[in-house]
Amino acid sequence: MNFQEFKNRVHKTFGLDLNSYKENQLERRLNNLLVRKKVANFGELYELIVKDRSEYVKFLDYLTINVSEFFRDVKMFTVLEEKVLPELLAKSNTLKIWSAACSIGAEPYTVALLLDQLSSGRSHQIDATDLDQTILQRAREGMFNVDAVKNVSANRLNKYFVKQDQKYLLNQQVKNKVSFKQHDLLKDKYPQGYDLILCRNVTIYFTKEAQEKVNRRFMQSLKTGGYLFIGGSETIFNYAELGLQKTSPCFYKKVGQ
Ligand SMILES: C[S@@+](CC[C@H](N)C(=O)[O-])C[C@H]1O[C@@H](n2cnc3c(N)ncnc32)[C@H](O)[C@@H]1O
Repeated sequence: MNFQEFKNRVHKTFGLDLNSYKENQLERRLNNLLVRKKVANFGELYELIVKDRSEYVKFLDYLTINVSEFFRDVKMFTVLEEKVLPELLAKSNTLKIWSAACSIGAEPYTVALLLDQLSSGRSHQIDATDLDQTILQRAREGMFNVDAVKNVSANRLNKYFVKQDQKYLLNQQVKNKVSFKQHDLLKDKYPQGYDLILCRNVTIYFTKEAQEKVNRRFMQSLKTGGYLFIGGSETIFNYAELGLQKTSPCFYKKVGQ
């Protein structure tokens, strides 16, 4: 079985669309996996993940790069804190927010911390999704290593976390503000009616076609006046055509359909 056949079989069997990920990057990563797993070729890898569900879960874990941290890109989160969220809060009492491809949860929890301080006493809906069930379970637990909280101020660390050994456990009140759910950006229906969508550091792994499709669907999921917040190394070139206005690096506001 060659690489293309492997991708097609995985898509058919598991619904995972590997054809929408950048080919070179993916192939390099999967070739490394063959070595690690000591399997001779893609045919054997396919047999392994089909026969044993836990091997599929491990395969998915390996495939999805889960690196994340609180306030990832401090400058951009300052724009979120000082400009975007105050503007949205001035228009609506209850915000509806989606952190798509949320990984360990540091991203949606960062938003929860900001909202706790910017709009104390008001409650908001923060949905957080990822393809990977294992990482969602970790996100729900809310236990973070030192690296993940390195951009959290001492004040916030004291207020919202409890230190346990070398780790930081987020308090239950903040954890309750975020709802985690599995969602595949390449396959599943997109939820609607958001004031803010964060989708950061995931579409860089997708092909150009898949990126465009995902951006169109985010556009439909946003309310007019709502914002899409993307990663520091990402750009949406056709934002005007999509009805978006670029308000600062990483932030796009929906101005029309
Ligand atoms: C590098 S992390 C980004 C985490 C966070 N957004 C950030 O910027 O810190 C990428 C995440 O995308 C998820 N992912 C990969 N493909 C996906 C897909 N098709 N749908 C949803 N999530 C996906 C991975 O499981 C991983 O947790």
